[in-house]
Amino acid sequence: MKILVINGPNLNLLSQREPKIYGTTSLEEINNELVDFSKTIAHDIELSFFQSNHEGEIVDIIQKSKDYDGIIINPAAYTHTSIAIADALRAIEVPCVEVHLSNINQREDYRKISFVSEVCFACISGFKKDSYKLAFLGLYNKINEQRN
Ligand code: DQA
Repeated sequence: MKILVINGPNLNLLSQREPKIYGTTSLEEINNELVDFSKTIAHDIELSFFQSNHEGEIVDIIQKSKDYDGIIINPAAYTHTSIAIADALRAIEVPCVEVHLSNINQREDYRKISFVSEVCFACISGFKKDSYKLAFLGLYNKINEQRN
C-alpha cells in the first residue's frame, strides 16, 4: 500500500511556528512518528512525504500521484484559497484525507472555508501532530474496505 503525505506552506517551520497552535514537534519528527505508527498497523505500507511552499508544486505532485493508494494532505493556508489544489485532487480520483494540526473551525472565519473538503472523504482537524496518525488510520481502513 502506497500513501503520499503532502504538506503545504509554512509547515516546514513546525516546532518554531506558533507552537501554542501547532505544537512543538517538527515536520520531520511528525513524519518519522507516522512511519513508526504505520509499522504498528501493517508492514506493507510505503509512506512518501512532500512539502512545498508553492501552490503550483503541490498541484504538480498531485497530478503525478495517480498510482498512490491514498493521500493525506494538509494544504495549510491553501486550504482556504486554492481551487487549483482541489481540482488536482478531483482529477486524480485517489482517496484523500484532509488534515489540520489546529481546529480550523475554532479559529478565524476565513479558516472555516476549505476548498479541499469537498474532494476529501474525511477531515481530521485539531489533534496537533496526532491528526496525521488519525488520518492515516482512517485512510488505511478505507483503502482496505475498497479492496474487499
Ligand atoms: C493548518 C491551518 C491553516 O489555517 C493554516 O494556514 C496552516 C496550518 C493546520 O494544520 O492547522 O498553515 O492547515
